[in-house]
Amino acid sequence: ALPRDLTGVRVVISAGGTREALDPVRYLGNRSSGKQGYAMARVAAQRGAEVTLVAAHTVALPQPAGVDVQHVSSASELSAAVHAAASAADVVVMAAAVADFRPARRADHKIKKSDDQPDPAVELVRNPDILAELVTARRDGQVIVGFAAETGDESGGVLEHARAKLKRKGCDLLVVNAVGEGRAFEVEDNAGWLLAAPERGGAERQIPLGSKSQLASAVWDAVTELIAP
Ligand code: PMT
Repeated sequence: ALPRDLTGVRVVISAGGTREALDPVRYLGNRSSGKQGYAMARVAAQRGAEVTLVAAHTVALPQPAGVDVQHVSSASELSAAVHAAASAADVVVMAAAVADFRPARRADHKIKKSDDQPDPAVELVRNPDILAELVTARRDGQVIVGFAAETGDESGGVLEHARAKLKRKGCDLLVVNAVGEGRAFEVEDNAGWLLAAPERGGAERQIPLGSKSQLASAVWDAVTELIAP
């Protein structure tokens, strides 16, 4: 049985991949299946937490027992739902793959091919960084966990990029997934590093390849160290 060491702890977790509409039928999206975020939610609930899961598009996944699931689509919807829930949360985990950019315009009608018009170009504008906003709006004592999908390996500078990202985003813990062909996105297993901010002890732990639930447990172990009285 899992420890009930998150009893009474209110957590908000985002999962899945956002979709940014180009027109009524097309979107820009990403390959997040939501499995890692759902595993974070399932393990937290099993350890006694009160969990709100903000789910952008995922593959079909079982609803985790005892978890309040809110479904969203775009980065802006995800932002609104996460910010609303975060204002009363002890821990916020951003496992969702959030679009960094959205189309500058959403066409009202399906974009058509035309022989007498040039092919369309998509102009993108930047989405707000929800994780950085959460850090700015942080409640006293709130623990904020980010995830980072980085291509490459240790020698390829993944850890250096991750340390820089941890500093830039200002979160307490950053879970770094090395992504690439058949890694992290969509599959059942995950591996990576768990980095703590310098003011949170600065530990850097390697998480060996295992199920997404095992990775979730390692992250919750680190969170409980930070929220312990
Ligand atoms: O869903 P799965 O198929 O199980 O795959 C899991 C995963 C690989 C998607 C997941 O483990 C993961 O790494 N999620 C974060 C992916 C990501 O978007 O990384 P990033 O480096 O682009 O963003 C870093 C952090 O900032 C993330 O916590 C992200 O949620 C957050 N972010 C990013 C952009 C943005 N506009 N706002 C944000 O809050």
